[in-house]
Amino acid sequence: MLVPVLAIGGLGVVAVMGVVAAFIITGWLGQPIPVLGFEQTFDQPIDFPHTIHASLKELDHVAADGQTMEGLGQDCTFCHRTVTTQANAGIPPVAFCASCHQVIGAEDNDQLMILRDAADIVGDDGPSPVNWRRVHRLPDHVRFVHEPHIRYLTANPSEVTNSTDGVTEGPSGVCSTCHGNVAAMQQVEQVESLKMGQCVDCHRDNGAPTDCAACHY
Ligand code: HEC
Ligand code: HEC
Ligand code: HEC
Ligand code: HEC
Ligand code: HEC
Repeated sequence: MLVPVLAIGGLGVVAVMGVVAAFIITGWLGQPIPVLGFEQTFDQPIDFPHTIHASLKELDHVAADGQTMEGLGQDCTFCHRTVTTQANAGIPPVAFCASCHQVIGAEDNDQLMILRDAADIVGDDGPSPVNWRRVHRLPDHVRFVHEPHIRYLTANPSEVTNSTDGVTEGPSGVCSTCHGNVAAMQQVEQVESLKMGQCVDCHRDNGAPTDCAACHY
């Protein structure tokens, strides 16, 4: 009598542990953000490579002409146009991309086909916006403005941290401080924690405001 009860009880424990383990594993794999705090990345509607556009280095990428190419070394502000003047950096509309990609890049490239379809160069369903997924996002109660940071770091290059494979002069040279080497990223990921401690430490070291109302609504 006792033996089967123990056996069933044991099986129950094993089953519960299995469920808990599965939960932890899916939680870990599915949502690295809450567990690790940062290093988050998402697949985007178009697999946009910062490497090709922003890097100045030789790349593995084989271009439509069959040659490997150097990155184009575009300024970050070429696309993120409002970063030096506003709170948001801004992502360009697909029509901006299409100004080059109507003709540039292989005709049958599947990612460029998604782009050309969204820009209404191919297909007949009209233009449609590309819904890029946000990689960096602070909670709603926090206020962040790019403009003063770009201005301060451009004027104080000794405060810039992390290196970049892209343009090092001007505003483009300071983004690495908070975003890492984006010019070397095939897919953007968050590499700095951008938690309150990091913001406040830098504010304290550089004479920027540290009162709660400076950063919180
Ligand atoms: C100033 C011109 C220019 C602009 C603007 C531009 N690109 Fe590109 N892009 C290029 C060049 C050049 C290549 C390399 C083409 C090749 O592989 O032959 C490229 C490559 C790509 C590729 C990779 C294609 C492949 O062969 O794998 C994608 C995807 C892409 N661009 C998306 C975009 C998106 C999205 C935008 C807008 C945010 C954009 N591009 C804006 C010039 C541009
Ligand atoms: C040709 C246009 C183009 C250039 C040049 C460019 N970017 Fe981007 N960037 C994009 C697009 C499109 C996205 C949205 C898709 C993605 O996340 O990859 C993006 C996304 C980002 C993000 C992530 C935004 C988020 O969701 O949190 C960061 C950070 C970023 N770019 C920084 C840079 C930096 C730094 C440079 C210069 C080294 C740069 N970009 C150059 C077009 C560009
Ligand atoms: C002092 C740190 C810091 C610096 C320097 C910085 N960023 Fe950001 N960036 C952030 C933070 C924090 C966010 C998330 C903001 C939010 O969620 O409100 C962000 C978000 C972004 C985004 C996505 C949202 C948006 O604003 O459009 C892009 C694109 C971006 N940054 C590009 C850049 C570029 C390009 C540079 C350099 C010219 C740069 N950043 C410099 C901290 C920084
Ligand atoms: C690399 C250092 C550095 C980091 C990291 C940094 N800041 Fe700043 N921040 C500054 C400096 C310096 C200023 C003042 C610039 C000026 O106006 O001269 C400033 C200004 C600001 C302002 C404007 C304050 C005002 O009222 O004038 C806000 C808001 C802000 N930062 C929020 C943040 C938040 C939120 C984070 C973290 C996600 C952050 N900062 C990370 C250096 C930094
Ligand atoms: C320089 C910018 C900055 C200043 C100054 C600042 N904070 Fe924050 N705070 C942040 C950022 C960014 C976050 C969101 C990221 C995080 O959770 O660390 C945050 C998050 C928080 C949170 C939520 C934490 C959580 O776990 O969700 C609280 C509470 C908070 N701050 C309180 C304060 C108080 C109180 C002060 C004044 C003593 C203050 N903050 C000053 C940037 C700042």
